[in-house]
Amino acid sequence: MTIRKSFIAAATAALCGAMIAGPLAAQTVKVGLINTYSGPMASNGDQIEKAINLFMKLGQCKLPPGVNLEIIKRDDTGINPETAKRLATELIVRDKVQLLTGVVWTPNALSIAPLATEAKVPFVIMNAGTAMITERSPYIARTSFTLWQSSYPMGTWAAKKFKTAYVAVADFGPGHDAQEAFTKAFTAGGGKVIGTVRMPPPTSDFAPFLQRVKDAKPDALFVFVPAGKSATALIKGFGDLGLAQAGIKLIGPGDIVTDEELPNMGDVPIGVMTMFHYSAAGERPANKSFVAAYQKEYGPNAWPNFISVGAWDGMQAICDVVRAQNGKVDGDKTMLLLRGWKNPNSPRGPIEIDPRTRDIVQNEYIRETRKVGGILKNVELETIPMVKDPWKEFSQK
Ligand code: PHB
Repeated sequence: MTIRKSFIAAATAALCGAMIAGPLAAQTVKVGLINTYSGPMASNGDQIEKAINLFMKLGQCKLPPGVNLEIIKRDDTGINPETAKRLATELIVRDKVQLLTGVVWTPNALSIAPLATEAKVPFVIMNAGTAMITERSPYIARTSFTLWQSSYPMGTWAAKKFKTAYVAVADFGPGHDAQEAFTKAFTAGGGKVIGTVRMPPPTSDFAPFLQRVKDAKPDALFVFVPAGKSATALIKGFGDLGLAQAGIKLIGPGDIVTDEELPNMGDVPIGVMTMFHYSAAGERPANKSFVAAYQKEYGPNAWPNFISVGAWDGMQAICDVVRAQNGKVDGDKTMLLLRGWKNPNSPRGPIEIDPRTRDIVQNEYIRETRKVGGILKNVELETIPMVKDPWKEFSQK
């Protein structure tokens, strides 16, 4: 090698070294995703998984050159707070994640909350919807919903249509919230709750509970059960026992007519009225292109539901805060950025994180399940704009 050539080689090597150590050094941000990949409730986790994979594949996560996201996935196997706690601990201590996300189930989110606080690791909740979760750690922000957000306006709406209602809810956090929120608004509007039942989650045999409801003869039955297979079992029980024929109207938050399960529910859901923040049938252009991209990727019969949208928007929030910090993620700075984070164009409509509560503010839609062009859809009829979590509004000092 001539002197000249070896000089060029050395200079090139030095330059490469400088580039690696300099401002363009690769910066990998680790995100721990705790999700339900197995067990009887795995279809809910699949909604999160599909949305995140699609978001990343379509290049929606726009990061500065040299900054990458590494998503480390862990399976909590269902409503399993001990497992969720162990997984979060490992992700924080061993994998050194800078953010936590995912989490379908309230009990799991509650067990992770103190760990997020202790480690100052921001935790972006993509589903779990019990109102008080966000108060369990200043490092939590939520991109999903609260049950109060749907069930309180549902109670107000229902009081104008029905004199009596029966309330049946899954016996855990989100069910308790749905019951309390609906009852408060329905009775304030002059309605009377003539019976209440709490059902074990997850259950697939609703017949004993529904028989009690049928005997009580309410005008309406308000139900919360978790989305996914539980919702389909509930609808089947409602159909089998002939509650609609007995003159009882089924109402609830949108979880009970979850979009991806509508094709498995027969015609029973036709006429069911629900309040919710997302329908796959929403006419917004951002939703049409979201559903089209989803079906292009996963097939023409794959429907995203609200859990997918919570994950889609959660990824947007995560990518935005990582970008704003140029990949150098600090827990407190991240929370400042999440407070007030906005997306005017989510598939569900405009959304923002309330800077005071770190909970989501979004439209609620009153919907009727109808058969449109041969398939069942949750058709949005009216919009209640930019609803804050009512539970926090009521408890505000
Ligand atoms: C929850 O655990 O908070 C949860 C789970 C499923 C739902 C809604 C809420 O459909």
